[in-house]
Amino acid sequence: MLANGKQDLEWQKLGFEYTKTDYRFSAIYENGAWSEGDLTDSEIIQIHEGAPALHYAQQCFEGLKAQTAEDGRVLLFRPELNAQRMAITAERLSMPAVPKELFLRGVERAVQANHSWIPPYGSGASLYIRPLLIGIGENMGLKPAKSYEFRVMVSPVGPYYKSGGLALISLAVSDIDRAAPHGTGDVKAGANYPVGLYATRKAKELGANEALYLDAAEHRYLEEAGSANIIIAQADNKLITPKSDAILPSVTRRSIMTIAEQELGMQVEERAIDLRAEIDSFLEVGACGTAAVLSPVGKIWLDEHWHTFYGNGEQVGPVMQKLYDMLCQLQCGEREDRFNWIHEVKI
Ligand SMILES: Cc1ncc(COP(=O)(O)O)c(C=O)c1O
Repeated sequence: MLANGKQDLEWQKLGFEYTKTDYRFSAIYENGAWSEGDLTDSEIIQIHEGAPALHYAQQCFEGLKAQTAEDGRVLLFRPELNAQRMAITAERLSMPAVPKELFLRGVERAVQANHSWIPPYGSGASLYIRPLLIGIGENMGLKPAKSYEFRVMVSPVGPYYKSGGLALISLAVSDIDRAAPHGTGDVKAGANYPVGLYATRKAKELGANEALYLDAAEHRYLEEAGSANIIIAQADNKLITPKSDAILPSVTRRSIMTIAEQELGMQVEERAIDLRAEIDSFLEVGACGTAAVLSPVGKIWLDEHWHTFYGNGEQVGPVMQKLYDMLCQLQCGEREDRFNWIHEVKI
């Protein structure tokens, strides 16, 4: 630990990897009620071999970040939307919802207890917060668990894509589906993710950063990337984003659409996007999410060739640059919080 109360880390060099911090928050649901919850210093979860989280993926998670502002305040971005989304996911997976108060308290306590691990202002890194809800206890048959653990772990992280900063990424349209219509694509079930690992590997073999999914019914409409929603700038100041029941309602994407409409006066639309019919009208494309922030997409692999966007796919376009700047300024307290999205954690 350094004299300034921070860990001796090379913050600028962090990737999106796990670093063990000092504490995590844990609360248990048993006999129909949640415990108060407390901090623990063990990163190991000991659970029964018959736990439904292990056998039937009765498990879900969330992801958000804490950032340090220039004046040293520690800021979360719209954490109540993560609490709400975890409650919706829990309902879909027949798990007890974590009450909003418990969710926010768990997040705040995990951040406070690990303040030496929160990257400093201007380092380009942030504290990634990962709330988890898992079905524990013994339960061999296919039925909901009787007990659950809600845990919040944190880790300092750098950029999600290795290119770092606001560098261009590429996506490859996958032949494999991520989520079925009327399935669980719109909730943050852990089970949605291992099925995408194969598609990600195939995308990487093509030289792309990540897979891009089309709707599972027709393979026609754009859905989302493996861990990010998609936004598209078109002519006449338009910003569009796919409408689908099978994609995760990204907090970042919802925020960007609001900023685009209300601060930049863009014409925003959430609608079905027929990829092959419309790709030539895409001026700029971006992938957005807590981890990805807003990563401009230079090119997309579709039907055996690359489609490039702004500047031959080699330059960041002005719309994505502006939206990225505005979002980052808001998240680290450099911009007036006119939508009331910032949640300060008192350290
Ligand atoms: C599949 C998927 N889509 C989109 C997102 C982006 O969502 P958010 O902006 O809420 O982080 C994520 C990451 O959380 C994700 O896993």
